[in-house]
Amino acid sequence: MSVLPQHVLEEIRELPAKYPQPRSAVMPALDLAQEELGHLTPEAMSEVAHELQLDPGYVEGVATFYTLFHLQPIGKHRLYVCTNLSCKLRGADEVVERVKRTMGVPEPGEVSKDGPVSYEEVGCHGACEYAPMMRLDHVYHYDLTPDKVAALVADRKSVSPHQAAPAPEGPRKPRTPRRKKADG
Ligand code: FES
Repeated sequence: MSVLPQHVLEEIRELPAKYPQPRSAVMPALDLAQEELGHLTPEAMSEVAHELQLDPGYVEGVATFYTLFHLQPIGKHRLYVCTNLSCKLRGADEVVERVKRTMGVPEPGEVSKDGPVSYEEVGCHGACEYAPMMRLDHVYHYDLTPDKVAALVADRKSVSPHQAAPAPEGPRKPRTPRRKKADG
């Protein structure tokens, strides 16, 4: 009996037709499997390989290379805090410290003791203009402060694991560059 339900296997089977190279379907397929199970088990990865007619070693290689894929159980709600340069320069370290304190975990990848939340430190999400930022489940949150992130973690801990993540604040406007002070 397969670990992935029939409807997920069918979705995976339809993916290769959407890409010029059928093997490009491996990441969305792993994403579907992870969404379903919470993390990628060896059985799930081999079912993905079977459905896409790919080498199981290749599928496992992709799953182990990308930090967004998890091979161990993690929280139902996941924070991916960007700690790349722009975010670091604008306070990502303080944000991470507050995340750890609010969740009560010392390291990335651990699940909070009192709620189904886990966090990862990841590379650039491509939203450097709004640094520091993070992805919470599938939603981006910008211009983070320690207080803002603590409120988001508390919110996720208090809701049902199946409730959608809160929407990010309104549409983003490009920042106006700061004027340089005139000399003298
Ligand atoms: S460095 Fe954080 S989004 Fe680019």
